[in-house]
Amino acid sequence: MNLKQQAGIEAASHVKDGMIVGLGTGSTAKYMVDEIGRRVKEEGLSIIGVTTSNATEKQALELGIPLKGIDEVPYVDLTIDGADEISADFQGIKGGGAALLFEKVVASYSKQCIWIVDQSKLVEKLGAFPLPIEVVPYGHQQLVHLFTKKGFDPTLRLDESGNILTTDGGHYIIDLHLKVIEEPIAFGEYLDSLVGVVEHGLFLNLVSTVIVGKESGVETIQALR
Ligand code: 5RP
Repeated sequence: MNLKQQAGIEAASHVKDGMIVGLGTGSTAKYMVDEIGRRVKEEGLSIIGVTTSNATEKQALELGIPLKGIDEVPYVDLTIDGADEISADFQGIKGGGAALLFEKVVASYSKQCIWIVDQSKLVEKLGAFPLPIEVVPYGHQQLVHLFTKKGFDPTLRLDESGNILTTDGGHYIIDLHLKVIEEPIAFGEYLDSLVGVVEHGLFLNLVSTVIVGKESGVETIQALR
């Protein structure tokens, strides 16, 4: 079993009967969704899933996991999702899989969030992973120019065919190659203030439990919040 799979399966054991569960996106989350699907089928686990992308919705439906939309539930009990980087103080970058907007909406209305990663995602400070910014198509080149002037080294994300990637929400993604983000909270506030930015991939103060797949075994770490 690989490290992402170990973390995904361990996280699925946190899901209890009757829960409304946010189902994340990406290769690690895929293992968690598979395991929840197995538990629904083989153990009779009764949950409602709320998906964070079209890809996860398709997977969950194929597995027979009952689903509702985020606007059809009063809240989400627990969201389990992957991450691209997690710093020592439990802040994260997400959006490598282009699902950051829906992931952040679901996480924000969740009572608890767990991130599942392999050990390569743990870093001292955020920023080596390009920071995804989801933007409206109208005026996106203006934001590219602005980020270039600021020295953020932006690239507009393309899909496998070389066309501009469009997110599930119908937006574009600009990746910022920042190397290090010294003050994530202040930088997140700056990004929030920009017209045309729909959401950014800094996920701050959202998670207090991280399940890490390590060569030595799965480890669950808790933030002191
Ligand atoms: C998608 C995400 C993913 O959770 C993140 O990119 C991690 O993906 P993976 O588990 O495939 O490494 O934020 O938008």
